[in-house]
Amino acid sequence: MAATMNLIATPSVLRRIPTLVTRAAWLLAPAFACVVACASHQNPAETPAPAAPTQSAAPAAPTASESAAVAPAPTGPINWDAMSKEQRGAYMKQVVMPKMKEVFVAFDAKKYGDMKCNTCHGSGAVNGSFTMPNPELPKLPSDMSKFKQWAAKKPQMTEFMLKHVKPEMAKLLNEPEYDPATKTGFGCGACHTMEK
Ligand code: HEC
Ligand code: HEC
Repeated sequence: MAATMNLIATPSVLRRIPTLVTRAAWLLAPAFACVVACASHQNPAETPAPAAPTQSAAPAAPTASESAAVAPAPTGPINWDAMSKEQRGAYMKQVVMPKMKEVFVAFDAKKYGDMKCNTCHGSGAVNGSFTMPNPELPKLPSDMSKFKQWAAKKPQMTEFMLKHVKPEMAKLLNEPEYDPATKTGFGCGACHTMEK
């Protein structure tokens, strides 16, 4: 399959290849297209992040300043795909966690007042793998009609995920939201696994 070829193009993409990308054709159905937004957030057309200031300022002698500029800036656009696991962890701690906690607390202060890394990462936050998607989160039905039934039982949570969690997280990772037309972008499938 052509899609598969694209997906195995780079190791970082391979790492997060959701098998569902290839079997999520039904996502093209308009109503819930973005609801399940299964793909993770890789973009084969890999838009490079804005060059580090040092690079554009001094293109002739980049090496030293480049390695000095490796630490993730806590603000400003990031290039998630290019970040090391360490940098990602630091960014999660400094930027993602505080913001996402704010988002979850606004939805349910009682339930999420004590939100931690493991709310999203489960035991991955304990064993240090931080693997996403996290198979311990509720699995999303991969079939459209089943998904609708499932979501209808949890309308508030579904709406919260759709309107707040997904967009906010995409923004924090500086990734486009899942687009069913290209099957790329940050969607539900970046955090949730799908039922087989
Ligand atoms: C709101 C949910 C959420 C919370 C809370 C959260 N993370 Fe994450 N984290 C994610 C997502 C989503 C990814 C994967 C992004 C992607 O698709 O590559 C991720 C990825 C990571 C990675 C990179 C893993 C890898 O294989 O590259 C690390 C490390 C990490 N998180 C650490 C943390 C730490 C430490 C905390 C707590 C301070 C934390 N996370 C809290 C959602 C969350
Ligand atoms: C940044 C990670 C992340 C993304 C993206 C995400 N979710 Fe979630 N979702 C979670 C977490 C974490 C929980 C569990 C919260 C808890 O334990 O209370 C959850 C819980 C849910 C629940 C509640 C399930 C239950 O049994 O109570 C539903 C429904 C849900 N998500 C649907 C979705 C849908 C649909 C999307 C895409 C629009 C989506 N989620 C995107 C992290 C995410």
